[in-house]
Amino acid sequence: MSDKRNGSSTDVETPAQPARLTASSPAPERVTSEAPPAAPGAMEYDYTNFYFGAGEDAFALLAPFDDWWREVKPAGYYLYELPLHSAPSTTVDVEDTKTHEVRSGLVNFASYNYLGLSYRPEVKEAIKSAVDQYGGGASGSPILSGTTEIHRRLSEEIADFKQKEAALIFPTGYSANVGTIAGLMRSGDLVVADQYAHASIVDGMILSKATSRFFRHNKVEDLDRKLSGFEGKKLVIIEGVYSMDGDTPPLADIVEVCRKHGARLMIDEAHSAFVYGANGRGIVEDQGMEDEVDIHLGTFSKSLGGQGGYIAGTHQLVNYLRGFSRSRFFSCALSPAVVAGLRAALKLARNEPELRTRLWDNVSTMQGLLADGGVPIGDSTSQVIPIMVRDDARIFQIGEEIFREGVFINPVKYPAVGKHKSRVRMSISAAHTKEELEKGADAIIRVLRRYGICQ
Ligand SMILES: Cc1ncc(COP(=O)(O)O)c(C=O)c1O
Repeated sequence: MSDKRNGSSTDVETPAQPARLTASSPAPERVTSEAPPAAPGAMEYDYTNFYFGAGEDAFALLAPFDDWWREVKPAGYYLYELPLHSAPSTTVDVEDTKTHEVRSGLVNFASYNYLGLSYRPEVKEAIKSAVDQYGGGASGSPILSGTTEIHRRLSEEIADFKQKEAALIFPTGYSANVGTIAGLMRSGDLVVADQYAHASIVDGMILSKATSRFFRHNKVEDLDRKLSGFEGKKLVIIEGVYSMDGDTPPLADIVEVCRKHGARLMIDEAHSAFVYGANGRGIVEDQGMEDEVDIHLGTFSKSLGGQGGYIAGTHQLVNYLRGFSRSRFFSCALSPAVVAGLRAALKLARNEPELRTRLWDNVSTMQGLLADGGVPIGDSTSQVIPIMVRDDARIFQIGEEIFREGVFINPVKYPAVGKHKSRVRMSISAAHTKEELEKGADAIIRVLRRYGICQ
């Protein structure tokens, strides 16, 4: 890697006024960047190489990381944090930070807006009138001055929707996991999570100081082993739909093992709440296990198209965590404007079951298109579809070509997923039209064929 610590490439990354292109504009012959190409080997490094380093200065890793980042950003990592110039709809306008253009009308498979609710007129109107009444932020912790009447109503509405005694609202899904796990479990207890559990679950486990174990993904026998022989409080954590793989857990078998060991069970339904089950109550409804799970957690940032997180359960659970979830207690409450948008979105998700019908139709259409093209999608059965490229060295190249073919989709590589498990992760929405699904699938298959990933 070169040593150009004081290079001026940051100027290059923030153009004053990007030019507008449409998805049908011809792709540039060759994408140029004012930064030199990455040195051989630079792309073989990843974030984990900059985690530990020698030296006594707490800033010792900053300069080497910066050097590496300047080289690999134009070589592919620039695909992270591309700014959108539009709502996360089924097509989006995205700023290409490499060519400094805004590419308009890209088919969007990168947003979690599974029901297309974030930009619905009812949601936008609710947000606007909440701004008129409450202004911008909540200006206080929920426990002190940050709770408004509509915060209270949202938690009641979530409890009612989930058919639980009570619910507690958090500023994000991330803080819901961290606050719940660390709020409940202590040093000397045991937390066992699926090995593919989200980072917020892992961070909650670390913060709790409980003994942490991970069982092999969806392998109930391994969960049984990991729970065996432990005397004391035990919590098992799984997800409803795994966020990088799009598969679901064998809930009934997991419940049985938890019962055998006297372990409580928590499920993170970030990607399954509001979309799974006849009424949208999640994978627990879909698999008929709503009363068998102790803690139901979800986010508002995916299907409801807003922001925030919740847990639902008994009055006692919610009352305890109200006092002991530090990530909620010591953090500002959600903006009332966000809360108003969430209430409107929840109403739509409840009143329009046809949104779920449309979503599952779209998922099945996309699964068919990808299967016809011979595209590997792992074990996905949901609206989260990983296209398994498994080529760590070329994943960004492939992601870049798909982007230039008019599709917005995120390449994912180690450490976000395991080594040699690189993928582009596709999210399907109820709002996608058949034409958008076909156009997007065609573009992806065209690129994958060039790389021999499908025939
Ligand atoms: C399974 C899971 N849990 C929690 C979160 C965090 O949610 P949020 O983005 O709302 O903080 C995510 C986010 O992607 C997730 O996938």
